[in-house]
Amino acid sequence: MADLLTDKEFEIFKKMIYDESGITFSETNRSILDSRLKEKLREKNLSSVMDYYNMVNSDKEEMKLLLDAVTTNLTRFFRNQAHFDAFIHYVIPHVLENKRKSGETIIKVWSAGCSTGEEPYTIAMILKEILPPPYTFQITASDLSLKCLMTAQQGFYADSRVDGIPADYLNKYFTKVDGGYQVNSDLMKSIKFDYHNLKNDSGQRNLDVVFCRNVLIYFDEPAQLKVINHFWDSMAPNSYLYIGHSESLFGMDTKFEFLKTDWACLYQKHN
Ligand SMILES: C[S@@+](CC[C@H](N)C(=O)[O-])C[C@H]1O[C@@H](n2cnc3c(N)ncnc32)[C@H](O)[C@@H]1O
Repeated sequence: MADLLTDKEFEIFKKMIYDESGITFSETNRSILDSRLKEKLREKNLSSVMDYYNMVNSDKEEMKLLLDAVTTNLTRFFRNQAHFDAFIHYVIPHVLENKRKSGETIIKVWSAGCSTGEEPYTIAMILKEILPPPYTFQITASDLSLKCLMTAQQGFYADSRVDGIPADYLNKYFTKVDGGYQVNSDLMKSIKFDYHNLKNDSGQRNLDVVFCRNVLIYFDEPAQLKVINHFWDSMAPNSYLYIGHSESLFGMDTKFEFLKTDWACLYQKHN
């Protein structure tokens, strides 16, 4: 199919999306932007892509919808099991050690770029299984995609999407319904879903663990650094940061320390 965007239009949209979200388009993924904009023109019954540009610029809600349309939301339950093994056997025991010293009992976790919810529900199930009393947890799960957040909040997953969930967890935390599984309300209530653009500071503080996996990959380095610096500000001393296993902070001007556990690699904020 013929390209919609001229080179100049591509540059204009690319800059706007980057400035709004940090999401970076290049020649490699230009066709994705092209096809999403074609859909937008059809949906709005517009013939010129610049008319759509003007619409987006004068309507904050349409801007949100455009950003939603250009995100990639692939995710799954228990994605990268090694990360969760490190969570169970290394991260949480160390967090609990710190909590015992400070007398605090709440473990605060953020799933940043949570997509349709599989990641925060995975974290919640694990914490419910492993935290000894009196410890409890708070999970905030955020994304830029309203569509994804709605799915996450509904907590319904088709049969094909619950593959990675161990059978005992599926029985305990989900109810079988027509065509899929519904997250039980107790698990659902343990997560606060929130719209948040990672370009901005979330205002959260003293987090013990941040998961931001397979999100930075869509940003260029300056945008990644901005996000990472926001994480630093929102995290407690001796806290842990997960990024995707194909992502890295290598060469970036950050104080996070690389941490290699027996299970997986992650990052630590020491103070
Ligand atoms: C590939 S999914 C990753 C989901 C999950 N973390 C995982 O690893 O399975 C990337 C998510 O990042 C979100 N995202 C992209 N840019 C964002 C931004 N600037 N602020 C917040 N979320 C963003 C997308 O909407 C998408 O849902």
